[in-house]
Amino acid sequence: MHVAMIGTGYVGLVSGACFADFGHTVVCVDKDERKIQALRQGIMPIYEPGLEDLVDRNVRQGRLSFSTELSPAVENADAVFIAVGTPSRRGDGHADLSYVYAATREIAAKCKGFTVVVTKSTVPVGTGDQVESISREVAPDAEISVVSNPEFLREGAAIEDFKRPDRIVIGTDDERARAVMTELYRPLFINSSPLLFTSRRTSELIKYAANAFLATKITFINELADLCERVGANVQDVSRGIGLDNRIGSKFLHAGPGYGGSCFPKDTLALTRTAQEAGAPLRIVETVVGVNDARKTAMARKVVNALGGNVKGATVALLGLTFKPNTDDMRDAPSIAIVNSLLDKGAKIRAYDPEGVHEARKVLPEEVFYAENAYDCAKDADVLVIVTEWDAFRALDFGLLKTTLKQPIVVDLRNVYRPQDMEALGFTYESVGRPN
Ligand code: UGA
Repeated sequence: MHVAMIGTGYVGLVSGACFADFGHTVVCVDKDERKIQALRQGIMPIYEPGLEDLVDRNVRQGRLSFSTELSPAVENADAVFIAVGTPSRRGDGHADLSYVYAATREIAAKCKGFTVVVTKSTVPVGTGDQVESISREVAPDAEISVVSNPEFLREGAAIEDFKRPDRIVIGTDDERARAVMTELYRPLFINSSPLLFTSRRTSELIKYAANAFLATKITFINELADLCERVGANVQDVSRGIGLDNRIGSKFLHAGPGYGGSCFPKDTLALTRTAQEAGAPLRIVETVVGVNDARKTAMARKVVNALGGNVKGATVALLGLTFKPNTDDMRDAPSIAIVNSLLDKGAKIRAYDPEGVHEARKVLPEEVFYAENAYDCAKDADVLVIVTEWDAFRALDFGLLKTTLKQPIVVDLRNVYRPQDMEALGFTYESVGRPN
């Protein structure tokens, strides 16, 4: 099959490379000339484990190419995927669909023969209907079938998630489009990933519902962590204790500094707006959004408390800045709220992140000092704070850290270490939802 992938962000680039790896011929299109030039030279615009090799292999074998020109890619395609950004619209929290509709216009004008146009970007319910009517308006005679096919991959595990998904959701009522989509995903359902066919609107909603549910699960355990701290219980044991019940499930029950990233914050907010406008408000999700925002700032208070209530003039060493490990993505990372709040309170910030410094420099205040490694970061600091659970922070040399830090105080916002071990090592140790 011939595939055109419009947009080379996380989802577009990973999906395009994976479809090529299945044996399809894929052209990834992006308006950003520098990005396309770089991709042609094998330089990835994002840090994602395994992506460079995957791209390189498929480019060399002639199945994957990159272009700034949409028309040749679309003219030859059986399926054109729209994988452009849908950021939060300033002011009202709705998803901004201007890139999706602009791509739709260009695609419709260039399609030849029967073409399936697939929305892979996360788009609110009803967007497929809009894409269809714009296509009809632009090219009344074109044979276009608009399908919703949301993506559920996680950053940092994107290739694995794409190639071994729990399910593939395809929203269409059109038999011909169904046949094309089935052919595209054949290598996956042979490996027993179920294909779920639904209506287009249902498919669009499944994507938001999945992200909102996961965000709710995280927020639930985060609030329970606060309760555990008050009543002297252990949130990790609570997670285990409830997660072993198959009806609940153990995943996404790790308490931490609040969810971040390019998806959960934006998608939960957009879903609440859709629901309000439809007259069926999702009050649970509205609460989740508010609780999670407040939590990120509350984490700074944890650091202040660990230093006896005052951080003025103190040096805080932060390990991990990205919203989670194995990515360089800083979008809505809890570290942003933590850094800003601590700077406001008069602290000095030293920070280290294995991959995220380049992105961090763009969003964090200039005063932040970036260290070379974890030990350099801890140098003369009053407290060491683990913000993101990179593997590199899972086996730190605390003997060395003790000599490097000004005071042996650790605040572990990801519960990487065990309180009893840290105390045995002579540290004052605070974590999330666990008794000391
Ligand atoms: C999320 C979803 O997991 C994907 O299924 C979805 O495709 C993607 O959004 C999207 O819509 O594109 P992602 O944002 O890459 O993926 O990251 P997650 O692994 O889901 O983590 C999101 C946030 O939740 C991170 O800040 C993470 O630290 C936090 N988290 C996650 C917790 O605090 N506790 C947990 O138990 C799990």
